[in-house]
Amino acid sequence: MKNKPNVSIIVARSRNGVIGANNTIPWMGKLKEDMIYFLRTTYSHPVIMGRRTYQSLAGPLKGRQNVVLSQTPGYRLDSHPGWDKQKHRRITALRRNLKEAVRLASIKDKTDNPEIFILGGGQIYELALRLGLVDRVYITQIDAEFEGDTFFPDLDPNQWQLVSDWHWDTDDRNSYPFNWKVYERQT
Ligand SMILES: NC(=O)c1ccc[n+]([C@@H]2O[C@H](COP(=O)([O-])OP(=O)(O)OC[C@H]3O[C@@H](n4cnc5c(N)ncnc54)[C@H](OP(=O)(O)O)[C@@H]3O)[C@@H](O)[C@H]2O)c1
Repeated sequence: MKNKPNVSIIVARSRNGVIGANNTIPWMGKLKEDMIYFLRTTYSHPVIMGRRTYQSLAGPLKGRQNVVLSQTPGYRLDSHPGWDKQKHRRITALRRNLKEAVRLASIKDKTDNPEIFILGGGQIYELALRLGLVDRVYITQIDAEFEGDTFFPDLDPNQWQLVSDWHWDTDDRNSYPFNWKVYERQT
């Protein structure tokens, strides 16, 4: 029998806690290595996101089940401008609450190391942490400050243990230095 999947958050956050501005990411396109890390880490695993994050993407993320949360009556995933029925119908689902989304995602992970990724945004991260659903948090901690309207909180060190920390310096593909940090919830 397969293991129960880990529920993980993956987020990139500035020094002052910003994760978004005007429904986009302020450092979009300026941290290429982090985008590769994000795509590799989540590949093949189900991802859960709020309706606003879904709308901010070019389209559903390929190679993984996308579960979108919305309570807007009549909202349809195929209203996304990047929607392609052939490519996206089978890899997307809409759910009205986070626990149902996690339940669906748990069934959809066919990998040997099942892990569900909560992709954001601010409302969904806050909800997942408040409900105590999260086992692990992958934070790209960017060493720069940005203006924004959406934030990710500091994790309580009594509750979250840092299990890995990897630094990346500024280079021609990455405009700011950052650290990939992984935290696990202390049981
Ligand atoms: N830096 C990062 O790593 C990162 C990652 C992801 C997103 N972001 C940024 O974060 C921002 C978006 O975050 P956000 O907080 O504005 O929006 P969000 O969390 O992406 O989505 C919010 C929407 O989710 C739905 N929702 C919220 N609570 C729900 C619940 N309990 N049950 C069911 N559905 C629920 C609602 O949709 P309805 O209104 O349709 O009901 C709500 O409007 C953007 O700027 C984005 O670029 C950053």
